Formats: sequence, structure tokens, C-alpha cells
Amino acid sequence: MRIQDKVAIVTGGGSGIGQGICYRLAEEGGVVAIFDIDFEAGQSTAHEIEKSGSKALVLKVDVARAEEVNAAVKEVISAFGRIDILVNNAGVSLLSSVAKMSEEVWDQTIDVNLKSVFLCCRAVIPHMKEHRYGKILNISSILGLTGSPARAHYSAAKTGVIGLTRGLATELGPHNINVNAIGPGIIDTPMLERDTGSDLRERLRGGVPLRRFGIPLDIANAALFLVSDEASYITGQCLFVCGGWSASAGLA
Ligand SMILES: NC(=O)c1ccc[n+]([C@@H]2O[C@H](COP(=O)([O-])OP(=O)(O)OC[C@H]3O[C@@H](n4cnc5c(N)ncnc54)[C@H](O)[C@@H]3O)[C@@H](O)[C@H]2O)c1
Repeated sequence: MRIQDKVAIVTGGGSGIGQGICYRLAEEGGVVAIFDIDFEAGQSTAHEIEKSGSKALVLKVDVARAEEVNAAVKEVISAFGRIDILVNNAGVSLLSSVAKMSEEVWDQTIDVNLKSVFLCCRAVIPHMKEHRYGKILNISSILGLTGSPARAHYSAAKTGVIGLTRGLATELGPHNINVNAIGPGIIDTPMLERDTGSDLRERLRGGVPLRRFGIPLDIANAALFLVSDEASYITGQCLFVCGGWSASAGLA
């Protein structure tokens, strides 16, 4: 067991990549607290975890709202006594060109994808510092490195997540807290399903050197490594788990 009895918060654990991360952490002995705005989705992840004999807790939290995040973090500490791992995974993808974008779409994209990372980190840092132990993992995106039409605001948020990861790693290293990011490529989840039609999916697949979309387990395996003590000398990094996409000039 690679994270036996470690207590992990996973935001957006009710679906897709977050769900995959919850399952993998639980399989390796972790106790998982799921923060999701969709309580039923979080519950179904928790039921699966409990069926396999591990512990899980679900809290309905909008991770873009400070008061909800702070209250939920307190609840996890009172339920399990500590927090060892925070995975900031919750995100939204709202498509719009910059020229036609409303301020609401801009604000929601930045709030859920970037501000939430700040809020969740701020809430757990005092506790992690007190225990001189912590692993924070932020889910960015290949679009934190590159751009794409109708996703400039999403790219801005995901690039921000990488910058926040680097800065936090320098602040928290002296407290024995590691902060890293993963930049997923194209991962087969409900978000991808909502964002793309079948034509675009085929074209996108052809541009991935490994010629397949990722699955949540691909991200979960990398996440498990980065939040485990095997990665204790890695901090401030973003690992792109993207089938080679970030290495390609688009002619793959
Ligand atoms: N799927 C991809 O191809 C891909 C690629 C790169 C990065 N990502 C990133 O990975 C993360 C997970 O994406 P996914 O594809 O699994 O998406 P998904 O839509 O399948 O799941 C997102 C989860 O986040 C929850 N959520 C949304 N807003 C929330 C809020 N305000 N508060 C709490 N929970 C909230 C949803 O209820 C859902 O359970 C996101 O940050 C996304 O930007 C996804």
C-alpha cells in the first residue's frame, strides 16, 4: 500500500478524472474525502470505494466559494483528524471566443479552475504546516501550455494553475509540503464528451502520438505517484500526461 491511512481531499471526485483519482488513492490505502458540487455524483464514487472496504466521505462543496471550502476542510479534520493530501481537480470547460465572451463565463472559468485552487490550498496549508507534512497536486491541462480556439479563458486559468503550483512549491518546501501539477492531454471523460463532437474527436485522436485518448486511470496513476512518498524530492513541477501531445509539433 503506497499511501496507507493517508487522508486525501479530492475536489471534483464525482466524475471523470477526479473519480479515477479517488479510486486509485483508495486502492492504495488512502482515506478519501470528496468535495463536489454534485453531491449525488460524489456519493456514487464514495459507494464504490466503500464497497471495496475503504473509507470515504462526501461533502457538497462549491470549491469557488471560500466559506464552503473552509467549512468542508474543518469537517474533514474533525472526521479523520488530519489531511495529508489535497488534489485540486474540479474544473469546468465553457466554450466561447474571446470576442463573444460574457464576463460571467470568464469569471466562472477563472473561479472554478484557478481561484478554487488558491482557496483549497489556503484552507489546508495551516494544518499541513502544523504537521510538517503535505502533498498538494493541482490538475492543470495541456491547455496550460498551449492554446485552442474558444478556450483562451480556460488556457489562462490552467496556465495560472501551473504558476500557482511553482510559487506555492517555493513557499511550502521549507515546511515539507510538496506541490506539483499534472497537465492531462485529452482524457475520455464526461467533460470531453460534452465539449467535442465525433468528427473533432477523430481529428484530435490522430494528433496524439500514442493514437489514443487517455483514460482517468492514466492520470490517476501519475497522481498516485506524485502524492506518494516515492515523489518526495519532486516539487514545483508540472507533469504532462498526454500521450506525447505536448512533445509534438502537430504533425504526429
Ligand atoms: N477531460 C479532459 O480531456 C481534460 C484535459 C485536461 C484537463 N482536464 C481537467 O481535469 C479536471 C477534471 O476534468 P474531467 O474531464 O474529469 O471533468 P468532469 O466534468 O467529468 O468532472 C468534473 C467534476 O468537477 C465537479 N465540479 C465542477 N464544478 C465544481 C465546483 N464549482 N465545485 C466542486 N465541484 C465541481 C463536477 O461536478 C464533476 O464531478 C478538470 O480540472 C479539467 O479541467 C480535463
